[in-house]
Amino acid sequence: APQVIRTREELRRALEPARRSGRRIGLVPTMGFLHEGHASLLRAARAGCDVVVMSLFVNPTQFGPNEDLAAYPRDEAADLAMAAATGVDVVYAPDAAHVYPAGYATSVEVGGELTQVLCGDPRRRGSAHFRGVTTVVAKLLNAVGPDVAFFGQKDAQQAIVIRRMVRDLDFPVEVVVGPTVREPDGLAMSSRNVYLEPDERVRARALNQALSAVADAARAGETDTSRALALGHKILTDAGIDPEYLEARDADDLTLAARFGDRPVLVAVAARVGRARLIDNVVVESP
Ligand code: PAJ
Repeated sequence: APQVIRTREELRRALEPARRSGRRIGLVPTMGFLHEGHASLLRAARAGCDVVVMSLFVNPTQFGPNEDLAAYPRDEAADLAMAAATGVDVVYAPDAAHVYPAGYATSVEVGGELTQVLCGDPRRRGSAHFRGVTTVVAKLLNAVGPDVAFFGQKDAQQAIVIRRMVRDLDFPVEVVVGPTVREPDGLAMSSRNVYLEPDERVRARALNQALSAVADAARAGETDTSRALALGHKILTDAGIDPEYLEARDADDLTLAARFGDRPVLVAVAARVGRARLIDNVVVESP
């Protein structure tokens, strides 16, 4: 079973021998309620590192005032069982007052377009969400000091923003992004899928179906992203889903992509289905 650690001081002590002997330390940051998507990252860390640290922290600063912080699903016992099953060595599970004590006043923000588009659009969650993510990930990287940190492609924009933070602030860590893990019917796994009522769970398939339709059109030779996206919009509308966005953007810098075929294009969708806010994406590679 993994060692469960609640403070950065204890964490530093626990990792000191490994660090001194030059062992490769991997970090998988999570907010818990673990599913196969998380497990795939934990297995990748287990395969590539000598010591695997999983953080388990529902980070309040990345939730908006109208978001689901209080309702966010939690099950620490199940998470520790998953951590044990995937060979995690250390679970770092601090409480919010340890991460953000009274008087806490600092944040890390990646500027520019990256955090202003898609989920960062001021009309939607706004860049404050990514400020919360980059702040907590910076703190976790400092607390753990990993050689490599693992993130999921499911949250494509988050992974891009974190890569930029790591580069801009010279964090001595390698960022690995693992593929999106899906349910058998294509729905991307998410801790928030538990919010879906049975009929909503069926309609939620439309997100991946819409992305697949856009990607299929591109692979069949459609070069105009807006024409391909229209096919996806129709699938969402037919399922009674009015997306927050369905967009095609450069997979590296998130600038709008007018054409398929020149560079890898990220096709990303976000939509509320019942109480759940769901996101998904697919990358259309250039030939
Ligand atoms: P959380 O939503 O718990 O996700 C933890 C990690 O698992 C993230 O890197 C996410 O991209 C990845 N993940 C989630 N669902 C996945 C899926 N279906 N397939 C593959 N990977 C998946 O993302 C966060 O937590 C937080 O923002 C965090 C980075 C921990 C900072 O608080």
